[in-house]
Amino acid sequence: MDKCTFKTFLVLSCTIIIFFTLILAYTNNYHRYQYMAPFYNMPKIPENLNSITPIKDSEHFMVSAFIDHRLDGVIRVISIIKRNSLQQLYCVYCNPTKMITEYDCRTVQADVQIHSDHFGFPFHVSDVICKGKHTQNATRVLISTKDSDNSNNNTDYLPIKNRVRTNTFKFNFTICISNVFGNYNNVLQFAQTMEMYKLLGVQHVVIYNTSCGPDLEKLLKHYETEGILEIVSWPIDKFLSPSPGWNFQEFKGDLHYYGQLVTLNECIYRHMYQSRYVLLNDIDEIIMPYKHTNLPSLMKDLQSAHPGVGVFFIENHIFPKTQFEDSGKFKRAEWHNIPGVNIMEHIYREPDRKNVYNPTKMIVNPRKVQQTSVHSTLKDFGGSYHVPFDVCRIVHVRVPLQGHLTKDQLFVDKRVWDFEQELIPNVDQALNFSSLLRP
Ligand SMILES: *[C@@H]1O[C@H](CO)[C@@H](O)[C@H](O)[C@H]1NC(C)=O
Ligand SMILES: *[C@@H]1O[C@H](CO)[C@@H](O)[C@H](O)[C@H]1NC(C)=O
Ligand SMILES: *[C@@H]1O[C@H](CO)[C@@H](O)[C@H](O)[C@H]1NC(C)=O
Ligand SMILES: *[C@@H]1O[C@H](CO)[C@@H](O)[C@H](O)[C@H]1NC(C)=O
Ligand SMILES: *[C@@H]1O[C@H](CO)[C@@H](O)[C@H](O)[C@H]1NC(C)=O
Repeated sequence: MDKCTFKTFLVLSCTIIIFFTLILAYTNNYHRYQYMAPFYNMPKIPENLNSITPIKDSEHFMVSAFIDHRLDGVIRVISIIKRNSLQQLYCVYCNPTKMITEYDCRTVQADVQIHSDHFGFPFHVSDVICKGKHTQNATRVLISTKDSDNSNNNTDYLPIKNRVRTNTFKFNFTICISNVFGNYNNVLQFAQTMEMYKLLGVQHVVIYNTSCGPDLEKLLKHYETEGILEIVSWPIDKFLSPSPGWNFQEFKGDLHYYGQLVTLNECIYRHMYQSRYVLLNDIDEIIMPYKHTNLPSLMKDLQSAHPGVGVFFIENHIFPKTQFEDSGKFKRAEWHNIPGVNIMEHIYREPDRKNVYNPTKMIVNPRKVQQTSVHSTLKDFGGSYHVPFDVCRIVHVRVPLQGHLTKDQLFVDKRVWDFEQELIPNVDQALNFSSLLRP
């Protein structure tokens, strides 16, 4: 070996030794990390990795667990129950002890409350209620088919949320958009709706994502980065054949509308102590005040006129996407290549129909709701109020329900134009940040 080869050999050996030392150190650490804290890491697992958990030895699923302070601190586990296969279920709930890695677990019989609005589907949202000693201080819970399943190392435990009851909220207005699925790619309407809601005073939007189109994906990521949007992973299609419709006779499938009733209920409990109000509406609907400039001033008036009420019904009104306003002033070149509906162009509203009830959506105080459906609550604590149509209504741009009507049989309703000055640049900016706007 000459000097030069020897030097090269030395350098190479050193590099290899350092490399393997690093790898060893890393894997060692990794194992220790996994070994040390099997439970204590549980709440830190990104929640969305396990938003749906099969209940062992059954066909049911558990979704999320909460303390219900209104019912003496029982544990409520929002679940998906197969209605014709309901067997006795048990709750195993655990309280922390002074020893950090040990839990004091108890098993009790569960009370399963299947919500009444199942529309004939085999699977339906249910509350699995766990009552027992010290439930209010439990930190994790498991639904089991056995009365003796308190193995401390079952990894299917759900962390229990809402353990602390507060009167101060991170958000005043949160929107729960139940589900996005399929190849939904209505980008322009989504951006306009988000920006409109921001102008109306909304601080937080939650969307349950099964799947979506490629451009909407970019926009969702943008809003998530911005901080206003929380995306909850909702891989319901990996567990069941979710129905694309609301009624079993017509649409078939295992579960109503991709699990909309599960996500709406989950969303209410998730925000019980995070948000003063929660709006429950679809991705293409805007709950729009017509006499107030924003939602805070609307709710201030409504709530002081109806102090105990926790559920406010808002009528849905259809703005057919097939009818365009005549001036064409919102046919902007910038939006030409953006997929989706431009709500600024659709200012014609369908009239009420005789003997047809306008379905409603809701603004709720989540602390006053126990179970919700889509158009009304099933169980609440404070009663409800139907907000007059001229005070607040939903702007819902979509395919017509009364497609035979001509423009002069529709009402002109330009409320969205009142926001034009701020709305348009804000939409442009959101599209630009999402790399959807081409110069
Ligand atoms: C539950 O926790 C609270 C504090 O969070 C404590 O004051 C109370 O004593 C606990 N109750 C039980 C039954 O352990
Ligand atoms: C915990 O899990 C291990 C391996 O998964 C198993 O061998 C052991 O019996 C379990 N312990 C209990 C108490 O169930
Ligand atoms: C919520 O509204 C109150 C007044 O009603 C206000 O003081 C507070 O700053 C608002 N919170 C947020 C997050 O906007
Ligand atoms: C929505 O879910 C699909 C399917 O899991 C995933 O591919 C996509 O990245 C998700 N989108 C967002 C914005 O989280
Ligand atoms: C788009 O964003 C870039 C920077 O990311 C900025 O230079 C440009 O002016 C923006 N365009 C519009 C129309 O907002």
